[in-house]
Amino acid sequence: MLNNGLEIQIRKFASTGRTPFYLYDLAAIRDRIQLLKRHLTNELDIFYSAKANSHPRLLELVKGLGIHVDVASMGELERAIAIGFLPRQISFTGPGKRPAEIARAVDLGVGAIVLESFDELSAIEAHAGRTGQIANIAPRLTPSQRVGHTGRLVIGEPSQFGFDESNLDELAKRVDESTSVRLVGTHSHVQSQILHHDHVLKNFEFALQMSLLFQSKLKSPNLGENFRLCLGGGFGIPYTGRAVPLDLEQLGNQFKKLMAEAPSAGPKGVKYKFAIELGRYLVGEAGYFVAHLLSKKTAKSNDRTITYAIADGGYSQCQIACGVGQVVRTNLPFTVLNQEGGERAPGPMTVSIAGPTCHSQDLIVREAALDGIEVGDILVVQSVGAYGKQFSPTEFLLMPEAEQHFIG
Ligand SMILES: Cc1ncc(COP(=O)(O)O)c(C=O)c1O
Repeated sequence: MLNNGLEIQIRKFASTGRTPFYLYDLAAIRDRIQLLKRHLTNELDIFYSAKANSHPRLLELVKGLGIHVDVASMGELERAIAIGFLPRQISFTGPGKRPAEIARAVDLGVGAIVLESFDELSAIEAHAGRTGQIANIAPRLTPSQRVGHTGRLVIGEPSQFGFDESNLDELAKRVDESTSVRLVGTHSHVQSQILHHDHVLKNFEFALQMSLLFQSKLKSPNLGENFRLCLGGGFGIPYTGRAVPLDLEQLGNQFKKLMAEAPSAGPKGVKYKFAIELGRYLVGEAGYFVAHLLSKKTAKSNDRTITYAIADGGYSQCQIACGVGQVVRTNLPFTVLNQEGGERAPGPMTVSIAGPTCHSQDLIVREAALDGIEVGDILVVQSVGAYGKQFSPTEFLLMPEAEQHFIG
């Protein structure tokens, strides 16, 4: 069910006829960030992963609320700079940084280049050495254990991300000996879309232990003013009606305990600063994908009758709404607004809603039980503020691009 103010805005934008579109509720993002800060303490640095949604309006909003930014490409880096993030508020992750990206990050003096491999360290050192600079680095550490998003403990799985335990001696030696890098912390991110606070916390603990292990191997690194321990994130959002949202209060209580019990200073007594990195949790639930229903028909096979409605947008503009990326296909939360000013209620009709292309995955709603469906109704898919527009190939069939509107 949509709140009344939101429904009015959606109907207003839809009445222009220019569907499909995305609508972002900026007030919801503001509320989410304030809630986070309240539960997790203000001393924590929160990074927004721009990969979730790098629209300038969202970057500006989070920046204004004191959030730092994590970028993963030159495009995101340049956008963050253009928005006005200070280089020290930026971290640059990603296992495949190009030479030009490394050079730009070093020249800008970004807060941390998150180091993913020895080759990357060599490339950073080469550029910094050549240009007489010292680059800020935070190695990405991959603990040998992590809790997956289903809650299962995953042990000893090799990964293309960062350094595992077998790399730590060499990593410490290289960092100790380097004259062109400054160690400003460590970084971990092992899992996304976790809905249970215990699992998030467990991964934070693994990240902390791994960081302490790495630090214990260092002899005389060149250090920054603080040592930032980015413990990851992975806070999930409910993508189905049955999913239980993350309990932020419990998470906050346990997180504060973890921080209180952790040492407060690292190598050479440099003070720790804790950080987390979140994408979908900040913006995912604030985004809506909206399309009009263009036509409908009834399909019968054996004893099954399904009413298909065809929307004017889908896979081309919002893959995530079509189950792309899901292991088990489930409908995202959605609402159908009728033309009488109300919402379609649960009912006896089996309704599937497809997008307008011939792609077999262009199916947004599969077999929902509704009280009816009509051409002209408005489909509103929820929870697509992250990895929605970013992940969608508008080029497919040269379909129209979804506009983006902002309220709040
Ligand atoms: C290094 C890193 N940080 C943060 C994120 C953001 O994840 P989420 O949007 O689930 O919070 C990702 C997602 O792929 C990631 O790879």
